[in-house]
Amino acid sequence: MLWLLSLHIGALIAWCGLLLYLPALLATAGNPTTDGAALAREPIALARPLFNQVATPAALLAIASGTALFLVEQIVGTWLIMKLTAVSGMAACHVLCGALIMRRERQPAAPVTGPGLALAALAAFFMAAVLWLVLAKPFA
Ligand code: HEM
Repeated sequence: MLWLLSLHIGALIAWCGLLLYLPALLATAGNPTTDGAALAREPIALARPLFNQVATPAALLAIASGTALFLVEQIVGTWLIMKLTAVSGMAACHVLCGALIMRRERQPAAPVTGPGLALAALAAFFMAAVLWLVLAKPFA
């Protein structure tokens, strides 16, 4: 099922990339220190369409193709259970990212630098855990 694995990897690259990019965008764009307030706010307008139209479908595709992979290839193991736990952490980061976008839209003057960077770091931690579990398979 090479095509399914390719779909899985393609979708998760898009999801992981946006889960790092979006909090960083929210944390930095539109801050009062950036030159030109109107210009600086423009990248924030990208956040919601990127989240709704790219990141969320990519997350659903990564999860659906991963589920199809383990059903079709009948893969079971402790690593998979642990991987799914780490994927839940990524899903929680995804929801928090949506909440951060809404907060940024409702209170454009309130910077979210700290929460944005913390969220990107947390997402990176869960991604690293997922990749380590699936590639090294430290538990049978
Ligand atoms: C519900 C979500 C997911 C499920 C059920 C799932 C399940 C699977 C399964 C069964 C495989 C095949 C493993 C093998 O053949 O050894 C696989 C491959 C892979 N998954 Fe996932 N996955 C999910 C989400 C993710 C996420 C979010 C990431 C990355 C952050 C990820 C990264 C990978 C990678 C890199 C591979 C390729 C491993 C290899 O070919 O050796 N998966 N996944």
